[in-house]
Amino acid sequence: MPIEKADVVAHFTKRFGQPPRWVIRAPGRVNLIGEHTDYNDGFVLPLAIDRAVWIALRPRDDRRIAVYSVDYDQTGEFSLDDLRNEKAGWIEYLKGTAWSLQDAGFALTGWEGVLQGDVPLGAGLSSSAALEMATARALAAAGNLDWNPAKMAKLGQRAENKWVGVNCGIMDQLISAAGRANHALLIDCRTLDTQPVPFPPGTAVVVLDTSTRRGLVDSAYNERRSQCEAAAKFFGVSVLRDVTMKQFQQKAGRLDDVTRRRALHVIGENDRTVQAAAAMRRGDAVETGRLMNESHRSLRDDFEVSSDALNAMVECASAHAACYGARMTGAGFGGCAMALIRADAAEDFVAKTAAAYEKKTGHKPAVYVCHATNGAEIV
Ligand code: GLA
Repeated sequence: MPIEKADVVAHFTKRFGQPPRWVIRAPGRVNLIGEHTDYNDGFVLPLAIDRAVWIALRPRDDRRIAVYSVDYDQTGEFSLDDLRNEKAGWIEYLKGTAWSLQDAGFALTGWEGVLQGDVPLGAGLSSSAALEMATARALAAAGNLDWNPAKMAKLGQRAENKWVGVNCGIMDQLISAAGRANHALLIDCRTLDTQPVPFPPGTAVVVLDTSTRRGLVDSAYNERRSQCEAAAKFFGVSVLRDVTMKQFQQKAGRLDDVTRRRALHVIGENDRTVQAAAAMRRGDAVETGRLMNESHRSLRDDFEVSSDALNAMVECASAHAACYGARMTGAGFGGCAMALIRADAAEDFVAKTAAAYEKKTGHKPAVYVCHATNGAEIV
């Protein structure tokens, strides 16, 4: 069962002897389609999910932030006047977010509280972005700041890039900040424009956690980014968003094979993502699923960021008659895949896919239906 407000309120009340002033929830995400497109200024179609980071807090009179992590049974503390990067685990995400907001000119104030989360770590469901957006929302509540989701997502991304040191794009922070209940969001990563897209009637989204965790993901991720930049340069633009499939086909023969396949993925994926949003709006689950399957093939064969476990999971899911489409989600190399399925067959799908995957790989997976929720908010 996902964490609920009452859980985190109980933890706060036990520690502080009174209820919290605010309770914040910021979700993880799964991406329906549009993978490795965000840092190419392209399109993504994620949903915020019912797995989240929660913070219950009350203001303090000084400029300190003190947080008890229920999951780590550990307190982290720092002063807004003395932000130092000590590479000390979970607290650095809070510090980095405070640094980023303060650096952008926001006047922050101190607070204390408890932190609890149920986004699995390292599974590709954006637990870090959820923690950053929960922190930003808490800082905004305590400091009485305007909450502009796109602006806060940018600052969360900056914390991740500059403080944590992971060179991610904008998707994870933006969906965690701006998600919409019962919808996916079509995000234009160039303008940060977000449009809610409803799910085809009678469908459900299933998280397919391979229970393998990604290794070496940062170096491979950075390598893919450089390859995309090199491809853009070859086409005479600064990002692959600005290359059409037609332009690609005219010139791609002169590219080396690896760079050509990387570019092919990104350019095709941008088109597929826009098409998938249109298919969902028409209520066309079959076409949405077909595009998801195409996306997985492209990530596996051309962009080369899948893994044996992810491929096995996608095969097991696709073999079920209720599955419209299945693909890896997030950066890749391990973690989660996801599927769009017929909702009335959810129970059977979950049981059979989990059993088939375990039989095939020997790993015990976590397979569960998820629901699209709002982005970071005071609840
Ligand atoms: C990670 C990054 C995102 C995005 C995806 C791949 O989740 O944090 O910015 O690039 O990988 O689509």
